[in-house]
Amino acid sequence: MVASPAIKNTAPEKKLIVGNWKMNGLRHEGCALAEALVKESGTISSSSQLVVCPPFTLLPLIADIIKGSNIFLGGQDCHTEHKGAFTSSISADMLEDAGCSYVILGHSERRHQKGETDAMVVAKASAAQAANLIPLICVGETEQERDSGLAQEIVGKQLAWIARGLDPYRIAISYEPVWAIGTGRTASDVDIEDMHRFIRQTVSGLMRNGAAIPLLYGGSVKASNAGNILTLPSVDGVLVGGASLVAADFVAIANSVTPAMAKTSF
Ligand code: PGA
Repeated sequence: MVASPAIKNTAPEKKLIVGNWKMNGLRHEGCALAEALVKESGTISSSSQLVVCPPFTLLPLIADIIKGSNIFLGGQDCHTEHKGAFTSSISADMLEDAGCSYVILGHSERRHQKGETDAMVVAKASAAQAANLIPLICVGETEQERDSGLAQEIVGKQLAWIARGLDPYRIAISYEPVWAIGTGRTASDVDIEDMHRFIRQTVSGLMRNGAAIPLLYGGSVKASNAGNILTLPSVDGVLVGGASLVAADFVAIANSVTPAMAKTSF
């Protein structure tokens, strides 16, 4: 069993800095990236907790490379079932067995490209918690939904599903406005703070101890804007796509967190 991540939901002393490598990384590329991160890990802010989420093919390799460092490993999806006749799927138990502590679930690329529903996301999250993983669940609205004034309604519906039977002490939520992912367009401070406040209120109303859940932001986070985003009091971490593929950028994002910033978390 993998060591439990340093996720302290009730009094977070660290910001979670999660790299979502998506479908990027041949063996030599992924290993070089992980090796560079390990090399830098001693210099990384003690107020940041790094998590890398490589493609499935790289998980055991990266697990070996980061062993003994303070970097945690995550998967990018899992199945709802433990095992069985589910060709091409990976279970939460397999992720845990490969060295993962986290799993990203409900990313908009899966919701929109694979038709993943809220019911599927919450079933996967239950399987992940049962396998001792922390599901990092993504929520967020499309540009059209935001322009129609429906952003909170859409995110509220996604949150209502998350509240069904999940342990709030073993979960994180990432607000990822779909229009900000991979576009270079970051949500404004006001957009992030407003939505995070709404998410905090909603999960606190729906789940006992919902106030304990770390809230991340994702969508075009880069070294140049991370410091600003991570300073926002409602932001407990960031989910980083493109910029997590460059070790120096990912390290710079982690190093934009100061101890004072980490203490401002909710
Ligand atoms: P991006 O992706 O940082 O490349 O916008 C974020 C994400 O999809 O989690």
